[in-house]
Amino acid sequence: VALLFSSKGDDPALWEGLLRRHVADLDFRVWPDNVGDAADIEFALVWRPKLGALREFPNLKAIFSLGAGVDHIFRDPDLPPGVPIVRLIDAALTRGMSEYVLHWALHFHRNFHRYARQQREGIWKQLPLTPISETSVGVMGLGELGGDAAAALAGLGFRVAGWSRGPKKLEGVECFHGHHALEPFLGLSQILVCLLPLTPETEGILHAGTLARLPRGGYLINPARGALVAEEDLLAALDSGHIAGAVLDVFRAEPLAPGHPFWSRPGVTVTPHVASITDPRSAAREIAANMERIEKGEPPVGVADPETGY
Ligand SMILES: NC(=O)c1ccc[n+]([C@@H]2O[C@H](COP(=O)([O-])OP(=O)(O)OC[C@H]3O[C@@H](n4cnc5c(N)ncnc54)[C@H](OP(=O)(O)O)[C@@H]3O)[C@@H](O)[C@H]2O)c1
Repeated sequence: VALLFSSKGDDPALWEGLLRRHVADLDFRVWPDNVGDAADIEFALVWRPKLGALREFPNLKAIFSLGAGVDHIFRDPDLPPGVPIVRLIDAALTRGMSEYVLHWALHFHRNFHRYARQQREGIWKQLPLTPISETSVGVMGLGELGGDAAAALAGLGFRVAGWSRGPKKLEGVECFHGHHALEPFLGLSQILVCLLPLTPETEGILHAGTLARLPRGGYLINPARGALVAEEDLLAALDSGHIAGAVLDVFRAEPLAPGHPFWSRPGVTVTPHVASITDPRSAAREIAANMERIEKGEPPVGVADPETGY
């Protein structure tokens, strides 16, 4: 089977070797230099493919994302019609994200951001500690990643609320859904974790109006996508003290531009899109399993809906 690999940041040789372990008759092609006959290509494995490029392959059976998000594929207005777009669902990726979320939720809950500032100022002072059951965390998006993170937070003893598009049931999580439930959900989110996909509906969802609904002095953890946040509004909320701290892993433009206010704004922590990184070993296994399902005429796992964009 011929698979086309297209990504600027990933090593094609590494992926070829790993996929070969699972797909015996793999014919691995690399965009743009080693495409061969376009009619041969049955699968594409991509990160941020060039706009319009996928339209060139008449026999594509599926487009696989190299990551959990598919906004980098749906941004192409000229995708081949009817070809399923498949998200990466991988236990290692999910676990990595929950580690990131747990780390930062505990960081704020235990006042480590305040102790870091005290240390810089040479201040020895013990701060009062709130019981974990009285610290509330709100998780926006209860999918593969948000669902796991919410369960892990609840497992540690946080008071957890969650928000999704459709109704959800998750043990230990107070679940909200839909537009009308956004305000009450935000009102409960002392620490807000954003794990929404970037879609036409969610773009800019964290703006002055929604940020104002968070309890005063709260925190934002955004490892989802930068464009979910109105950057100027977040900076204003930080300046006013309405938001006391933000951890940002993703940005509207990446890498984050030198001199961008987020680099140096007090209360802001920047990480370089590392909240959860695809492990090519486990991901290659998942992608090969989906190729096999398709070859057998079964539906692949993780097909995104072109109507909703996730
Ligand atoms: N920084 C990193 O390293 C990194 C790594 C991996 C992924 N990510 C980001 O994480 C995102 C989430 O991944 P995932 O695998 O968890 O996605 P997913 O399984 O598709 O889950 C998406 C969740 O968001 C909810 N949602 C979507 N649109 C909504 C709306 N308009 N209103 C309310 N809720 C909405 C969905 O609600 P329903 O349950 O009702 O459908 C679902 O619960 C990815 O899209 C990607 O951008 C970042």
